[in-house]
This record gives sequence, structure tokens and C-alpha cells, in this order.
Amino acid sequence: MSSGGPEMEKYGETLFALDQDEEIRLRLLAEVFDPLCTRTLDALGVARDARCLEVGAGSGSVAQWLCGQAPDGEVIATDLDLRLLERVAEPRLRRLVHDVTTDPFPDGSFDVIHARLVLSHLPQRDDVMRRMMRWLRPGGFVLIESFCWFPIDSAPHPTYRKVMQRWSSLICGTLGTDSWWARSQPGSFLDYGYRDVGANTVTQNLRGGTQLADFWRLTVDMSREQLIAGGFVTPYELDEFYGLLRDDGFWDLAPALVQSWGHK
Ligand SMILES: C[S@@+](CC[C@H](N)C(=O)[O-])C[C@H]1O[C@@H](n2cnc3c(N)ncnc32)[C@H](O)[C@@H]1O
Repeated sequence: MSSGGPEMEKYGETLFALDQDEEIRLRLLAEVFDPLCTRTLDALGVARDARCLEVGAGSGSVAQWLCGQAPDGEVIATDLDLRLLERVAEPRLRRLVHDVTTDPFPDGSFDVIHARLVLSHLPQRDDVMRRMMRWLRPGGFVLIESFCWFPIDSAPHPTYRKVMQRWSSLICGTLGTDSWWARSQPGSFLDYGYRDVGANTVTQNLRGGTQLADFWRLTVDMSREQLIAGGFVTPYELDEFYGLLRDDGFWDLAPALVQSWGHK
């Protein structure tokens, strides 16, 4: 089923299909990015009795953390596919198959809504921002995290730059991902009536051989066939890219992570 128009496929249909490689990739993602996310959630404040929604929860690491922060509240973790979430050893976690683009929640259900690396992949992201506002209780907040591609566009190494840019083009054309939405993401909160809007951008140094480099190498490798078949890159360029990301002498910047939030 298409999500964003007749020509778009849905996340997980072929790109990012939930197999063993995607599981490894999502676990790496959690290890590298959870400290940034939980620090921001902590600063925004998750009350002991908060009702929390983790959208597109993936491996469920943030949902599990939220359960610890809100022992007197409730945490619902959603995804299109619950196989990874079912492995989270947290009896208080409610897991729900829920498509954030179409499935409802009652108005005023949550104090905290978090979505990391979900909305930028969804062509319906503006509508989702509007609907999340309705799902919030007064005083509640939404935190959205998305990658932004600006460090790649100025990357000095031509193969690193080209492969990352072409991979971004592939997912933009296939899923409707917007790798630049993150720049205007804080402004969208204002457009949809959120208040006390804030943002923070983290640009990470990427060194070959680190977990961050492994995450990006696996992410690109998951689309290897489509990248080659579509003429985006050559097998030789891909191999050179993998070599760079394994080489501890290679340093550059990874795509930046934009965190933005707004309150109701
Ligand atoms: C890049 S992964 C990020 C996973 C997790 N948020 C994290 O950061 O660790 C994107 C996740 O969003 C989920 N997803 C994609 N489209 C969705 C939709 N329409 N509704 C709910 N979840 C969706 C995917 O199944 C996947 O688990």
C-alpha cells in the first residue's frame, strides 16, 4: 500500500524492511542517539505520572526509558510492525500497531509525544503535526527529531559526499522522505499552534570504525541493490564508501540531528 501518493512506497515495504540487518541498524541507532534524546526529554520534563506516546518506536529503547521516568503514568509505543517492540522486557509498556498518518487517538490523551526519525520519512508530516497537537493534553509537549543533510553537502571527500547524497535522493524519491524538512521543523510547530517552541541541533563528528560510522554504513548498505540498479552509484563507489567508514583515519561530519519541540 502506498502512503504518500501512487508513486510512493510505504516505509518498510522494501526500503528498511524489518529483517535482521534492520534490527541491527535500529539497535545501533538507539545506542548512538538515545543519550541525545533522553537528555532533551529530561530537560523538557517527563513527570512521574505522565502519559507518554512513542511514535514509530522501532527497537523501543526510548519507550523503555520513558517507562522508567513515568512509573505512575503510562507509555504507549506504536509502530507499523511490533516484532522488535515485543522483545522489550517491560511489562508496563503498551504496544500498539498504529499508523501515525491514518490511525487516531482520542483528543487530549498524552502529556509527552516523541517521534525520532519518523516524520521526515512521511509525506503526510504536516498533517501528522496537526493531529499530534490534538492528541496532547494542555501543557503537554511534542519532541520531534530528524536528520538534516547540510553537513553532507559540504563534505570534502567526494565519495562520502556522493554516496550519502545519492542515498538521500533514493529515499526521497521512493518513500517521500524530506532530508531538509528538519531545517524548518521548529517553524512548523508555530504553524500548527504550538507554544514555547524550541530547537537544538547536534552535529556529530563521524570517524570511521565507530558506532556512528557503522550506523551510516549499514543504513546505506540496506539500499545497496536499489542504489546500483537505479544508477545512483556504482558498486566501486559503494565499496570505497564502506572502506572509508571502516577506516579509523577517516573523519568528517555525519548528518546533523535536529531536535525541536512545542507545547500545547
Ligand atoms: C528510522 S526508524 C526509527 C525508529 C525509532 N523511532 C528510533 O529512532 O529508534 C523509523 C520507524 O518508524 C516506523 N514508521 C514508519 N512509518 C510509520 C507510520 N506511518 N506510523 C508509525 N510508525 C511508522 C518504522 O516502522 C520504524 O520503526
